Formats: sequence, C-alpha cells, structure tokens
Amino acid sequence: MTYLVHRVAVIGSGTMGAGIAQAAATAGWSTVITDARLEALPAALTGIERTLEGSVSRGKLSTGERDAIRGRISSASSIADACRNADLVIEAVVEDLAVKQAVLTEASTVVPHSALLATNTSSLSVAALSTGLPHPSRFLGLHFFNPVHLMKLVEIVVHEKTDDAAREDALSVVRALRKEPIVVRDSPGFASSRLGVVLGLEAIRMVEQGVASAHDIDRAMELGYNHPMGPLRLTDLVGLDVRLRIAEYLHRTLGDDQYEPPQLMR
Ligand code: NAI
Repeated sequence: MTYLVHRVAVIGSGTMGAGIAQAAATAGWSTVITDARLEALPAALTGIERTLEGSVSRGKLSTGERDAIRGRISSASSIADACRNADLVIEAVVEDLAVKQAVLTEASTVVPHSALLATNTSSLSVAALSTGLPHPSRFLGLHFFNPVHLMKLVEIVVHEKTDDAAREDALSVVRALRKEPIVVRDSPGFASSRLGVVLGLEAIRMVEQGVASAHDIDRAMELGYNHPMGPLRLTDLVGLDVRLRIAEYLHRTLGDDQYEPPQLMR
C-alpha cells in the first residue's frame, strides 16, 4: 500500500537537506526545513530557487511547476515547529553521532507516532542512532546522493528494530520521489559509502605516492571503467570534511586500514 505523505520536515539545510527538501516538494509534499544556524535557511532557499531556475532554463520544468514547488517549501526556526504534524521527518545534519541522536530525539518528541523518521547519514549505525527513540520500529536510513535532484539512488537502511511496515512505507516514499531504492542491512558505510570511500581514499593515496596526477587518476576511472566522474572529483563534490568523517568512522568500526584517511586528505 502507498504510504500517504502530506507534510515533510527536513532537519539540516546544508547541501543534502536543501536537495532533499526540493525533492520532497517536487513530489507534491508540503515541506519544512530547519537548521540550528538560522542564517543557513535563506541561503538554502536561495540555493533551491537557483536549482529550480536551472531546470526551467534547460526545459525540464515549466515556470508554473517551479512556482508550485517553491511554494510548497517553507522554513521553521525550531525542530519542534518543523516536525509537528509531519508524516515524514528526514534528518540531514552534520555526520556526528551525538548531534544526530540529539536532533532525532528532539524530533521524536513532537512527531505523530505513525510518522516515518529517517536519517540521511552516509555511514553511521542506524541502530545506534535509534537509541533513545520511543518508536525505533518507525526509524530507518534514507540515504540520498549528491546532487539530490540528479541522483537516482536512495539507500534504505534497515536496522534490527525497523518493522516491515516502515520498510514498505520507505519504499513507497522513495518511489514517490521518483528515485530508485535499494534495501541494505544496517552495517558501517552500508553498500554505497563502504565501496565508494575505498576508491576515493586509494585515489588520494595514489596522488600522495606520485602514481599519476589527480586528473589522470580520475581519467582512469572515467574512461577505463566508465565512471561518470573520477573518485577525486567525486570526493571534492561530496566535501573533503564529510568524506573525512566517514573514513574515520569506517576505519574505527570496520578496523580495516584501507579506510585510514591519508595524510594528504587531512
Ligand atoms: P552540510 O554541512 O552541508 O549541512 C549540515 C547542516 O546541518 C548545516 O547547515 C548545519 O548548520 C546543520 N546542523 C548542524 N547541527 C545541527 C543541529 N543540531 N540541528 C539542526 N541543524 C544542524 O552537510 P551535508 O553535506 O548536507 O551532509 C548532511 C548529512 O548528509 C551528513 O550526515 C552527511 O554524511 C550526509 N550525506 C552527505 C552527502 C554529500 O555528498 N555531502 C551525500 C549523502 C549523505
């Protein structure tokens, strides 16, 4: 059965939060974004407007659709105001377990029990993030990719307490967003980051060792393996700070030296 979403709250209005909010509004849902830094909110809205404008100029969106999408997005100055009455809450704050736990716990005190609560974490344990939530069965990972409006994949990350109904609801949410879901068991880095980060780190180590230039290492993957973008350019797009945190976490949890961040990255 299709999970009916009317109102979405997105917590964190950075690169991912803004992209997710735009995708939710494009799916026709009333969407509220919030951020601990209130000054980030107008910047996020301006960024969304710029992306929508780009779609209009490429003929992908009519001006009427642009206005309707923009009209469905608003901002709130607190998590409580954003999440009250939401059917779907997506957390997209900094990749830090304690910060995410605090944000999710705060959201869980105001959302209706039936709401689906999700994290956009790239690597952290979804089970650990569920600690302290009153309804962990309605909590899971919805891992979007950057830039959200272009990337088709959403990883649905289920932990031991996620129930079947929540998993089905997540599948219907992802399809309504016109994205392609994969379902992954909660484990460090899930499917995408665990594989993708290895390539990025190894590419940086290769630059460090003078194997080839950054440009040529990227070309090796683009032309030799048909990757649309080389691992170094992709690491820049994700953000070196974001990738560093993921690498440190994977190194700690998987205990594998291939995840140790190279000095050049630091
Ligand atoms: P970002 O740094 O652009 O945005 C994070 C936002 O969270 C900032 O605006 C910050 O002010 C806000 N924030 C921090 N603490 C907060 C709090 N306590 N309450 C409310 N807002 C708070 O980061 P980005 O890149 O958007 O990443 C967000 C999440 O998405 C991270 O978990 C990251 O691992 C994940 N992710 C990032 C991808 C990327 O390519 N950058 C791809 C997929 C997932």
